[in-house]
Amino acid sequence: MFDFTGKRVLVTGAASGIGDATARQLIAAGAQVVSLDRNEPAAAVAHHRIDLADVGSIDSVVARLDGTFDALFNVAGLPGTAPAEKVMAVNVFGMRHLTEALLERLTPGGSVVVVSSTAGFGWPQRLETIKELLATDTFDEAVAWFADNPQEGNAYNFSKECATVYTMTMGVALHELGLRINAVLPGPVRTPILEDFRKSMGEDTIDGAAILLGRHAEPDEVASAILFLASPGARWINGHPLIVDGGLSGTYLTGLVPLPEI
Ligand SMILES: NC(=O)c1ccc[n+]([C@@H]2O[C@H](COP(=O)([O-])OP(=O)(O)OC[C@H]3O[C@@H](n4cnc5c(N)ncnc54)[C@H](O)[C@@H]3O)[C@@H](O)[C@H]2O)c1
Repeated sequence: MFDFTGKRVLVTGAASGIGDATARQLIAAGAQVVSLDRNEPAAAVAHHRIDLADVGSIDSVVARLDGTFDALFNVAGLPGTAPAEKVMAVNVFGMRHLTEALLERLTPGGSVVVVSSTAGFGWPQRLETIKELLATDTFDEAVAWFADNPQEGNAYNFSKECATVYTMTMGVALHELGLRINAVLPGPVRTPILEDFRKSMGEDTIDGAAILLGRHAEPDEVASAILFLASPGARWINGHPLIVDGGLSGTYLTGLVPLPEI
């Protein structure tokens, strides 16, 4: 479907679920995939073990990476069953630190894709707070801000609100560098994390989505949206949160079907 011949692409979270499907599609499209994950991937030409909750681990991996890259796909994530500070560190602070550490290694025309979530749909109600957090300059400052400003509700939702707003606010800055940044916002996808979502968001929320649509998404269906956003056909799409949920958000956000409590 896409041509990534000769392209070098970094994929976090490549060891499982959506990241694994993304790595496989990239390889089939001709790319060299470099995996960054805490676990070994099944598909990639190279792998660096990384802990995205640990800024020292991110910096040492970045220092070991050779050459330039055509894209960075930030797919790794932790569910709301993990401690809140870990969820924020992996899904937001580590993702941001890695992205910004790699900007100068991305080739002109290159692209960043962030995997956020429809669970971050509440960002407009918390925008000022999110902007305050994103105004922190470093990983450690962001950790300290979150310790001083604990948020109501599931940390996963807040982390994805931040990931979506981060992507939207960085579009013009990346344009100035000749790069782009976009996000995909999946609804429920059939991967190992779904069991954790059942525990943290409730079975009714997760299974209700499958009742409306007849099934959950397959990882491949999110992976192809990620590849699209990094492809030349998406060259004027920038700072955009692309919903990839089979139509769920449309029905919820227009009030056609009541929004689940998550
Ligand atoms: N599956 C869903 O229903 C769904 C829905 C919306 C968004 N998402 C998002 O999609 C992304 C991928 O999730 P998935 O469904 O493939 O889940 P998954 O659990 O199958 O994969 C997550 C990957 O992230 C890696 N990871 C976690 N913590 C890490 C850390 N500290 N350092 C390095 N790597 C780490 C894991 O090792 C794993 O390979 C996540 O950001 C998730 O929030 C998933």
